[in-house]
Parts: sequence; structure tokens; C-alpha cells
Amino acid sequence: MTKVHKPYVLFEEKDHKFVWLGLDESEYEKGVLTNQYLIVHGDKGVLLDPGGYFVFERVYENVKEFVNPNNIVAILYSHQDPDVVGSLNLWLDMTPEAKIYVSALWERFLPHLGTVGGIKFVDLPDQGMDIKVTEDFSVKAIPAHFMHSPGNFHYYDPIAKIYFSGDLGAAMYPEGKWYLFVEDFEEHKKFMEPFHRRYIATRRAIDVWLKKIKGLEINIIAPQHGSIFQGENVKKFIEWINSLDKVGIDLME
Ligand SMILES: [Fe+2]
Ligand SMILES: [Fe+2]
Repeated sequence: MTKVHKPYVLFEEKDHKFVWLGLDESEYEKGVLTNQYLIVHGDKGVLLDPGGYFVFERVYENVKEFVNPNNIVAILYSHQDPDVVGSLNLWLDMTPEAKIYVSALWERFLPHLGTVGGIKFVDLPDQGMDIKVTEDFSVKAIPAHFMHSPGNFHYYDPIAKIYFSGDLGAAMYPEGKWYLFVEDFEEHKKFMEPFHRRYIATRRAIDVWLKKIKGLEINIIAPQHGSIFQGENVKKFIEWINSLDKVGIDLME
């Protein structure tokens, strides 16, 4: 597999962009395929789950097409997994202005990646918060605990109306299969179901999350693995996750 995919702009209006940061399908050989995203507002940038160590070069090169890394003001982490935070040290060197946002549960664990010097952490409280990027733009950190991590956040861009869902909505494909947008939702479900059944801690986590996102206007759901949901598929995804009656501990004997 040698297919390399260029970044794709999911939303663009005036000085605001929401960008999917490309993929090299050969990354499959090193670990599960991951999506990274960048929000650009004016000359400022916000990175969403920039990923593991081995994707850094691809992500960094693609970010530079859209924003000066010196102007990245925030790196937002959904949770603590290696495929999310593995490149932290490399990003710290390249983004002197960035603050690192992560659940308060994980802040004390991340320095074990071997970070040298102080990290500008912002601990996200369990209830979430608005993250001010500029005077006229904030990203919402939405709690999604136990789906799957105990300290887990999604991020909502209210200008693009794009909901970054971290591992929620993840799809795992067999080697050689990959597509950027979900087209056939029925077919797509089978690539999502095993992950969601095993990793989400309990059905109650889904109920709590559904309440948190009520009223949010979502045009696109952008997950950290697999494919992007847009249009009708946003609703279909929410209906599907609501249809999972038992997950995680609910299924354990
Ligand atoms: Fe994860
Ligand atoms: Fe992940």
C-alpha cells in the first residue's frame, strides 16, 4: 500500500478553515490508521489529536501548508492513548505558543513521554469548558467520559459546525480498505461495531453523552479513526450509537 492522500478542507468561510490532515495508507503497517485535524482562524491554528510518533512528519508537513506552526495556540487532546499523544514531544519543539489541553485526569501522566522542560498544560475539568482561541472564536470541549477513556473530551467548532469525536465513530478496516467519507452507512456499521462494543465502558456513558450534545447543530462528525460523517449520516450515526443497548462492562460475565 503506497497511497498517499493530500489534506482535505472540510469547511472554509472567510478566514476560518477546518482541515483533515491527510493520510499515508502505508501507516497501516505501523499501527491503526488515524485522522488528524487542524482548525485555522485568521492566522491562528488549533490542532486536534495530532497523533502518534510515526505520523508526525506527515502531519507537520501538511499543517505547514495552512498555518505557521509558531501560530498554533492550542493542541487539543481527546484522551491519553499513544495514537493521540505519541508525538507530543515533537510538537512541543515546533509550537512554542501552544497550550496543551487534556482532561485533568491525564495531565500528570503525560510528562512520562519524556518531555523536557515545562509543558503549558490546561487541565480540562470534567464538565468541559469553552476554549478561547481568539476574541471572536472559541472551541467547545464537550465531555464524553468513558467512551472510551475515563477522562475523554470531544471538541466542537461552532463556526464550521464540525464535531471532532475522538475515538467515537472509529472504524477499523481490513488492510487495503479505507475511504474518507462514509457513503454506505449500513456497510460502514460493521467496521465500527466491534470497537464500540468493547471499548465504550458502559451503555450509561452513551446516554450521558447524548444529553451533552442535545441542541448542538452538527453538520459533520469527524472521528480520529475511520471515515467522516456528513449530511444524513450524522443523524444515522447518532441513531446507531443510541441503538447499542449493551457495551463494555454490560457484556462481561
Ligand atoms: Fe483511544
Ligand atoms: Fe484512537
